[in-house]
Amino acid sequence: MNTREMFAKAIKGGYAIPAFNFNNMEQLQAIIKAAAETKSPVILQVSKGARNYANQTLLRYMAQGAVEYAKELGWEKPQIVLHLDHGDSFELCKSCVDFGFSSVMIDASSLPYEENIALTKKVVEYAHKYDVTVEAELGVLAGVEDEVSSAVSHYTKPEEVVDFATRTGCDSLAISIGTSHGAYKFTPEQCTRDPKTGKLVPPPLAFDVLDAVMEQLPGFPIVLHGSSSVPQEYVDMINSLGGKLPDAIGIPEEQLRQAAKSAVCKINIDSDSRLAFTAAVRKVLTEKPGEFDPRKYCGVARDFMEELYKHKIIDVLGSDGKAE
Ligand code: 13P
Repeated sequence: MNTREMFAKAIKGGYAIPAFNFNNMEQLQAIIKAAAETKSPVILQVSKGARNYANQTLLRYMAQGAVEYAKELGWEKPQIVLHLDHGDSFELCKSCVDFGFSSVMIDASSLPYEENIALTKKVVEYAHKYDVTVEAELGVLAGVEDEVSSAVSHYTKPEEVVDFATRTGCDSLAISIGTSHGAYKFTPEQCTRDPKTGKLVPPPLAFDVLDAVMEQLPGFPIVLHGSSSVPQEYVDMINSLGGKLPDAIGIPEEQLRQAAKSAVCKINIDSDSRLAFTAAVRKVLTEKPGEFDPRKYCGVARDFMEELYKHKIIDVLGSDGKAE
């Protein structure tokens, strides 16, 4: 399904839909098991890095298989979207529309404003012919995600959003309010340090910018990228088992919970599942150095990710039970 109805319900209901990236079978199984068990609508996202890693055709059929798998798990009417994350050209978005994706993102946020509008509008005109919904972006997120990167962030300018949404016809808008991609969302200089634990405490998200956007565009679906929380239990586990992730830090979950209650109706999470996967693999291989069957450590990684996804759905986004 596309995102239109899903988002309208999420805004009314004060929750957000999880948008989880996937690159491999274990991640997809974990997402579907978590969504089926909690009866949460879910968005499966395919990034450019995922396509390069796993192949677009394979990922598309895996997503199709996931719908059948969800039914096998007892979820009678799965609500699953297959979404292109960070599409960077009309041709790519078109190929995903033609190929059966139900939603695409055109990320032209690094282009000058008028060019962002022109490209987004072109994608919207094409996608809407096939009832595929389109996410666009205004403002720039810092950080690195697969092949999308920017050194600095620029908050979304609330005074531009009405003009942008009206002229492009986009269905949802990703905004920049201080989130960023990856496991290092803030530099130590941007944070304070908890004197007891020595851990970094990040600055709060710019909720004033979010409020101003919502005032300009009442009821319009807003998307937050870069919303991993970088759970410190995984970071500590990785670091204590030979890894090296100094000062990795994310967005506190209470702030995401607060955002999910507003018009923010899609929250993107990728890095957290990478951390869960890596922590699990390090744990198994440290405890059993003789293990060489990938199913033994990828299976544990899958369990870790499933727990993580369920926690996000139930405790952070509040989307459980919304796709009965
Ligand atoms: P994280 O790196 O915070 O998980 O963000 C992922 C994302 O926004 C994908 O588009």
